[in-house]
Amino acid sequence: MYFKDPKVAAVFAEYVDRHAQETATMATLPPDEIGARRNEFLLPVGAEAAGFLHSLVIARAPGTILELGTSYGYSTLVLADAARESGTRVITVDLDPAKQAYARVMMERAGLEQFVEFRCGDALEVVSADPGPFDFVFLDIWKNLYVPCFEAIYPKLADEAIVVTDNMIHPEGARDSARTLRRAIREKPDLQSALLPIGQGIELTVKWTAGNLSL
Ligand SMILES: C[S@@+](CC[C@H](N)C(=O)[O-])C[C@H]1O[C@@H](n2cnc3c(N)ncnc32)[C@H](O)[C@@H]1O
Repeated sequence: MYFKDPKVAAVFAEYVDRHAQETATMATLPPDEIGARRNEFLLPVGAEAAGFLHSLVIARAPGTILELGTSYGYSTLVLADAARESGTRVITVDLDPAKQAYARVMMERAGLEQFVEFRCGDALEVVSADPGPFDFVFLDIWKNLYVPCFEAIYPKLADEAIVVTDNMIHPEGARDSARTLRRAIREKPDLQSALLPIGQGIELTVKWTAGNLSL
């Protein structure tokens, strides 16, 4: 991944190192222990999908960017850097104040704090309290919340909004939630969507009304 600003690149490199260490630790743990300790880990989108998100935001220069699932700020850093390039900002939501406090320090160290608004609370409550519209949504929350979060943001999407959803292929345990989300997306007449084999599987959804064209 390429960042113009060396301060951003240095903070991203720290996330990459921490993620590599955590991946090694998780490889030694039984699955139920990983689940029980999931709040300790970054559980990040990963470098490949981060590069995709960064390019997409820079290319599209959207208005409001909404991230559901800050965690420790790995993806927030990437979105915030692209938001600065695009003259916009990121609203990022997480239930966990300690994770957001960590993420805030990382954004400050990267010089990106003014491009991020942290909202700590339940994603469904935060979305329902915000009138929108949202131009770019990154959905990366616990997978059982994918459909309710998607249904909450859907009426608030701007025309030609983009929704990027992570973990649509991996991990295997999230596949049922991913399939249910894909069905919910495909029931909406004004959404076009594609599953991309990037990182852990990205669903790229665009709000698009095709007018009177019938193909
Ligand atoms: C997979 S992690 C996000 C990873 C992050 N996007 C990244 O790439 O670095 C999912 C996050 O969703 C948060 N979360 C889970 N349930 C939530 C809820 N109801 N409202 C807000 N955040 C929630 C968890 O605390 C966790 O940090």
